[in-house]
Amino acid sequence: MDATVLSASLIPPAPKIHPLPLGGSLLGDLRIAWEMGRNLVGAWCEDDFDSLVTPYRFMGQPGLVVSDPAGVRQVLASPNFRRAAKLGRPLKPLVGDSLLLTEGETWKRQRKSLAPVFTPAAIGGLVPHFIAAGDTLVGRLAGQTRANLSEAFHHTALDAVLRALFSRRADQDGAVLAQIARRYVEGPAHFRLLDFVSRGVDDLTFADGDRRRLGGRWLAAVDAIIDERRIAPRSGDMLDRLLAARDEDGRPLPDQEVRDQCSSMLAAGFDTTSRLLFWATYLLALDPTTQDRVRAEVTAFPAERVTGLDDLKAWPLLRAVLFETLRLYPAAPTFGRQALADGEVLGHPIPAGATVTISPWLMHRHRKLWDAPTTFRPERFLDQPHPWGLEAFIPFGAGPRVCIGAGFALAEAQIILASLLARVAVTLTHERPVTPKASITLGPDHEPDFGLEPIVQARP
Ligand code: HEM
Repeated sequence: MDATVLSASLIPPAPKIHPLPLGGSLLGDLRIAWEMGRNLVGAWCEDDFDSLVTPYRFMGQPGLVVSDPAGVRQVLASPNFRRAAKLGRPLKPLVGDSLLLTEGETWKRQRKSLAPVFTPAAIGGLVPHFIAAGDTLVGRLAGQTRANLSEAFHHTALDAVLRALFSRRADQDGAVLAQIARRYVEGPAHFRLLDFVSRGVDDLTFADGDRRRLGGRWLAAVDAIIDERRIAPRSGDMLDRLLAARDEDGRPLPDQEVRDQCSSMLAAGFDTTSRLLFWATYLLALDPTTQDRVRAEVTAFPAERVTGLDDLKAWPLLRAVLFETLRLYPAAPTFGRQALADGEVLGHPIPAGATVTISPWLMHRHRKLWDAPTTFRPERFLDQPHPWGLEAFIPFGAGPRVCIGAGFALAEAQIILASLLARVAVTLTHERPVTPKASITLGPDHEPDFGLEPIVQARP
C-alpha cells in the first residue's frame, strides 16, 4: 500500500490543553477534581505532553504521572502495585467482586478460570454473533439519511456482547440492560469529588445512592438471565463456558462469581467498544479518502464471509484505522496503580499508598514518543503486525492485568465497521467539532448526526 497517499494532515479535535498546571494549592486541587469529574482528560497541561515522569501532590497525597514506556511497564508488571481502588468506585456497583476489581490470589484464580473464555479459538467462535450484531445495525439504519451513530453504536456494542455472552439481543430480552447501561454511562459513571478523596471502593459511598440503585437493577437483570440459562438448553456462548469452567480443585464457579464476571464483561465490554466504533467512524467521516480505501477492503472481502479470526487479515487498513483511533481516542483514557510498600519508579520515591497515574490519552499524544502525535495517520500501524510492540501504545494496558477482552473488542469492531461501511458512506452533517469528554470511557462531548449515503453494490 502506498502510504504517502493516505491521510497526511488531518488533526482531529481535542480539548484545549491548559497552559500551566492547575494544582499546587487546595483551590487548584479542587479545580482539578472538578475538571476531571466533568471531563477526565480535561485537566492536563502543556508540560504533561512533554514530561515522561511528573511527581505531584493531590489533596495532600503524593503521586506520580508516568508516561515513560519502560516506567509504565515496570509499574504494571510489579507486584508492589495494585489497581488504584478509587478509580474503580464508579464501577463497583455494576461489577461487584469480579476480575476488574479483585486483587491478589482471588484475582489470579479468577483470571485463570476466565482465560479459556478469551482464547483466540473461543473468540473465533463468537464471529457469527458479531456478524449478526453488524447486520442488525445496518438493518436499523436502513432507509435513514442521517442518524445519531453514537447512540446506534452504544446499542450495537451492547447487542454484540449480549449475543456473545448470553445469546440475547439488545432490542429484545436484553432491553432492560441496554436501558440501565445508557443511564449509568450518562450519570453515575462520572467521577465525583468523593471518588478522589476516598481511600478505596467502599469508603465514603454515602452519596452513591444512584450508583447502588441502578447497579442493583443491573445485577438483578443479569441474575435473571443466568437463572433462566440454568434450566434452559445450552447455547454455545460465553455463559456456557463460564458455567462449565472449573477451578483447580475441579469445582464450578460460585453463583455470585458467575454473575459478577458476566456483569464485569458486559460493563467493561460494551461502553469501551461503542466508543471505539464511534471515534473510528468520526475519523473516517473527517477523512473520506481513507474511508473509501477501507470500503474497498471490506467490499472485496465482505463481513459475512468471515468465519474465523484469520479472515480479518483481509482488512489491514481497517485494522490500522482502529489502532490509530485507539491511539488518538483511547476508550479507557486513564488508569492507575497504588503502591503497597515504599518503592521507586524511574528514580522517584513512591511511598506506600501513593498513586501512579498512567494515561493512554497522554502517552498516545506525547510529543517525545510519537511523530506528529496529534495527526490522524493510520498508516503508522500498517507495518506493525503486533502494535503491542510499540512501546508507547497501551490502549488495553499492559502486564498481567492487560485487558482480557482486547481480542474480543478488535474482532467485534472490525466486523461491525466492515458491515456498516460496505453498505453506507458516512459523512458529517455539520461543522461543529466533536471533542472527547471522558468519564471512565472517552465519549463525545455531543452526539452529532452523521449523514448516511447507501452504497450501491455492483452486481457480480
Ligand atoms: C476498545 C475496547 C476496550 C478497551 C480500550 C479496553 C481497555 C482496557 C484496559 C486499559 C484495561 C486495563 C486497565 C488497568 O490496567 O487498570 C482493561 C481491563 C479489562 N478489560 Fe478491557 N477494554 C476494552 C474491551 C473489553 C472487552 C470487550 C471486554 C470483555 C468482553 C473487556 C474486559 C476487561 C476486563 C475483565 C479487564 C480486567 C482485566 C484484569 O484486571 O485482569 N474489555 N481493559
